[in-house]
Amino acid sequence: MRTSKVTGVGSFVPEDVYTNFDLEKMMDTSDEWIQQRTGIKQRMWVKPDQCTSDLALEASLQAIKNAGLEKSEIDMIILATISPDHDFPGTGCFLQAKLDLPEIPALDIRQQCTGFVYAMSIADKFIRSGSNKNILVVGAEVHSKGLDKTPEGRTVSVLFGDGAGAVVMSACDVDDPMKERCFIDSQLHSDGKFAKELWMPGPGSAIGENRADQNMLNEGLHFAQMNGKVVFVHAVKRMSQCLKDLCQKNNVSLDDIDLFLFHQANLRINSKVAEVMGIPEDKVFNTIQKYGNTTAATIPIGMHDAVKEGKLKEGMLVASAAFGSGFTWGSALYRW
Ligand code: UT7
Repeated sequence: MRTSKVTGVGSFVPEDVYTNFDLEKMMDTSDEWIQQRTGIKQRMWVKPDQCTSDLALEASLQAIKNAGLEKSEIDMIILATISPDHDFPGTGCFLQAKLDLPEIPALDIRQQCTGFVYAMSIADKFIRSGSNKNILVVGAEVHSKGLDKTPEGRTVSVLFGDGAGAVVMSACDVDDPMKERCFIDSQLHSDGKFAKELWMPGPGSAIGENRADQNMLNEGLHFAQMNGKVVFVHAVKRMSQCLKDLCQKNNVSLDDIDLFLFHQANLRINSKVAEVMGIPEDKVFNTIQKYGNTTAATIPIGMHDAVKEGKLKEGMLVASAAFGSGFTWGSALYRW
């Protein structure tokens, strides 16, 4: 049967490291608070002249090279971000221009922290349908330029980092999808009644007479607003449930899974999911300590780090799960 598989992975994070101690100098916070509540030790933030598609470009070139492909063999770009270069057009178009790949479709996904799971799932379906062969799937974020670094913003600002990750998903034929390297299945969900628990109100058509005005800036509507505790509780519940559902649907026991590549929003969320599900902690690969939350980029950055560290090896059964603003959540199962 025709399906898809990841043939190459790449990632890129900016070189400037900001430790929790650096943040102590900017806002009323402490290394102790950040590490205890989130597990984060540091994050990377871009220089003023770098934007989301720049990071995406570096990760994409690595992924294409590691897939053993020429750029010209990519026949679609799917890019997930909530920190685009511009309001429109989509950052996928800017990436496409930088890659010099004219005319292939470029699709932006706005599913926040679940963006990469949505993007992989969409790529898999395009490939299975027979319409595409090699899709570049990217998660890329520059959060640092949109954070409120004053005392009012500390709950959100200490969490986020900049970075990009990319994979190439390519068509393949397998006899037994459970045994051979391929993308097996995914589950996608959302529940918009929780949209305002984690959101950025402006700029937008719903905030008043104009999409953007001085009032928007004065009220800080262009900064993310989050009800952290509500998000935390839902993240644990939804990630656990959709992992369980995906395993049941595919007749896989959690013990069969060799590695869990979860979204990286908070180390405590991932520990709680592992605890609730009875997953040994050493099967969960976490990177939030080094990079903070890079939203749509956390899973592919983690994938690339896991490969480089020898933790993700050929033949392993892998599960990803993510939860984020929307609320959106989802899971994916794949044989590496
Ligand atoms: O990826 C997208 C999805 N996002 C998430 O999944 C995030 C989910 N939520 C969380 O990870 C946690 O709720 C946070 C890490 C954001 C916050 O942790 P918390 O344990 O829920 O803390 P809190 O917001 O209840 O704040 C506890 C205390 C408060 O002080 P008081 O009222 O107890 O005196 C806050 O003002 O910590 C204070 N606080 C801080 N102190 C130092 C809040 N932010 C900071 C800070 N530094 N950065």
